[in-house]
This record gives sequence, structure tokens and C-alpha cells, in this order.
Amino acid sequence: DIPSLKAVYADHFKIGAAVEPNQLEGKHAQILKKHFNSLTAENVMKPETIQPEEGEFNFNGGDKIRDFTKENEMIMRGHTLVWHSQVPDWFFEDEKGNLVSKKVLLERMRNHIEKTMKHYKGDIDSWDVVNEVIKPSSDETNGLRNSSWYQIAGIDYIKEAFIHANKIDPGANLYINDYSLLSDPAKRDIMYNLVKELLTEGIPIDGIGMQGHINIKSPSISTMEKTLEKFSSLGVDLQITELDLSVYKNNNQSYDSFSEELAVEQGHRYSKIFKLFKQYSDSITNVTLWGIADDHSWLTGFPVVRNNWPLLFDQSLKAKPAFWRVVVPS
Ligand code: G3I
Repeated sequence: DIPSLKAVYADHFKIGAAVEPNQLEGKHAQILKKHFNSLTAENVMKPETIQPEEGEFNFNGGDKIRDFTKENEMIMRGHTLVWHSQVPDWFFEDEKGNLVSKKVLLERMRNHIEKTMKHYKGDIDSWDVVNEVIKPSSDETNGLRNSSWYQIAGIDYIKEAFIHANKIDPGANLYINDYSLLSDPAKRDIMYNLVKELLTEGIPIDGIGMQGHINIKSPSISTMEKTLEKFSSLGVDLQITELDLSVYKNNNQSYDSFSEELAVEQGHRYSKIFKLFKQYSDSITNVTLWGIADDHSWLTGFPVVRNNWPLLFDQSLKAKPAFWRVVVPS
């Protein structure tokens, strides 16, 4: 019998996994029940699934995951209400295909937030209210992504999203979530300044979500620590929302198999990363892996199609060296 990951970290933070609804049975369900106490929908709670056409809501996939979390005393992260990707075009367009006014877009956004959050009221611990709204290269936007949301509504869509989410479910923790926060100093600074500004204005933000799609070599532990140090000084909660650890350092590499050497290197790095998260467990409330096991990961399709072994359990759902290094810290 192997130790339970969630039990090992019970005094520090929740341990989560991203799942598709069809992973809630068999061996996958056994692993989830034993090792995880938080779930995130990998895809089925994104706007394109929840509201594919205006006014047509589909909560089937999300409900399956929600029911599983309730049956197994887990919490759930809501991912995600407002995003530039996996969002249908109708949000931004009128019948003729022209961009809608700010007023119309914000009404549609508030309606989406309202219907979705009411449906899951009381069942979601933390919502990713806005996802990936920062993009350092876009100077003329003060570091905000120049998405359709931004083009039509400016920074107000971000503020309105939080204000409205807080109205609908004041009990849920409201997160701003993004990638490369643990690695990119420019992005780190923009996020810090943005959250600081929003908090000063009284916008109800509870926490910052750092996705954590990192690799076997970078970023360095000290770079990641700078982000945790800086964000925790804001006094908000922090969560690692999408952790995985690609075995590749660049886009040109491709391995046929997962060697013993790679497994050891990955395990060593995972152990250092969890050790760092533990040091910040006054601020970090949840560490979620972006998948259950190496049999299913978005990284086998991104940035190129290739094998990858980024998680703690292998393709046959057996605990990897990385798992052991995380549960038995040295
Ligand atoms: O469901 C359709 C299926 O009907 C169709 O036949 C098939 C053909 O391509 O596509 C299926 O949709 C795919 C979907 O995953 C469900 O499997 C999409 O092509 C594929 O692009 C989509 O990828 C997801 C990606 O977000 C989209 O942006 C990944 O599974 C998901 O892991 C990934 O998750 C994101 C987070 O939400 C935000 N942070 C980054 C993270 C990784 O990209």
C-alpha cells in the first residue's frame, strides 16, 4: 500500500487534479479518491461548453465532476468564467458579425457569470473568474492581453467580472489565474501591480492562481520563489492551479520512452518544487496537477505532437519516482 498524497499534505494545502468527466471511473477514480481532495474540470466548464449559443446552457459535464467531488468529500475549483480562448464568437458579435458595444458585452458576461455561478452555488471553493488576461508584449494595453474582451471593454471587464461574481456567490473565493507567473519577471510584475490596483479600488479578489506549466529544467527554484514572495506580500491567497512538468527543455526534443534517468531527474525536481510550496503554505491553499496520470495530458499535443510524461502517475497509473519524491521528502 502506498501513502496518500493528500494525507501527506493535509496540514499544508489541498491536492487537486484536472479531470474530464470520463475519468471518474475505474482505476482513475480509485487514484482520485485516494490521493486528491480537489478537482478542476479540464475543459467542460469553459464558456464554449457551458454556453455554446446565447441562452443555451449545458452543465452536464460539470455536474458529473461536481457530484463526484461531493460524494468523495473533495472541493472543486471552477475553471473558468472569462477567457479569450474556448469562448464562442457570439459573445462579441451581433447578428451581422460586427463587434457589439461595451454595454452589450458586459451584459452577456454578467449573464454568463450569473447563470453559471448560481448553478454551482455552494459547490465551488474557488473560481477562476478571469483567465490569462495578462500579456507583457502589449505595451499600449498596460500589459493586459489585447483580446476581444479588452478591445471592447478595456480593463472594466476584469473589474466587472469580479464585482458580479462576488454578488452572485459571496462565499466563493475569486481568483485571477494566469500562466508563466512563476517564470516570467515581466508577467509577475504586471500581475502584482494589477492586483494591487484592483485591491486598492475595493475589487473583491481573493487570490492569484499560478498555472505552473513548467519543465524539467526551468524556471529555477529561486525564480519561482521570487513570485511566491512577491505575491504573498499582497496578502491574498495563492494557488498553483495547473501544475505539470514537461520532460523537455525545448520544442525540438522528442523521446521514444521515459528513461530511468529522466524519471530520477524529474523526481528530484518535483521534490524541490513541493518543498518550496510547503515553505509558502501560509499563502498557498491548493496545488492542483493538470491531469491525473501520464496516460492523458494536453502536453502530448503541445507545442508539438510528442510523447510526454509530466505527472506523478505513469501511463498504467502506477506511482512514478516523482510521486515517491513528493510524498517522502528528503
Ligand atoms: O472535444 C473536441 C472533439 O469533439 C474534437 O473531435 C477534437 C478534435 O480536435 O477536439 C476536442 O476538443 C479538444 C479539447 O481540448 C477537448 O479534448 C480541443 O481540440 C483541444 O484544443 C482542447 O485542448 C484543451 C486546451 O486547454 C484548450 O485551450 C486542453 O485539453 C486543456 O488541457 C487546456 O487547458 C488549458 C487551461 O484551460 C488554461 N491554461 C492552459 C491549459 C493548457 O493549455
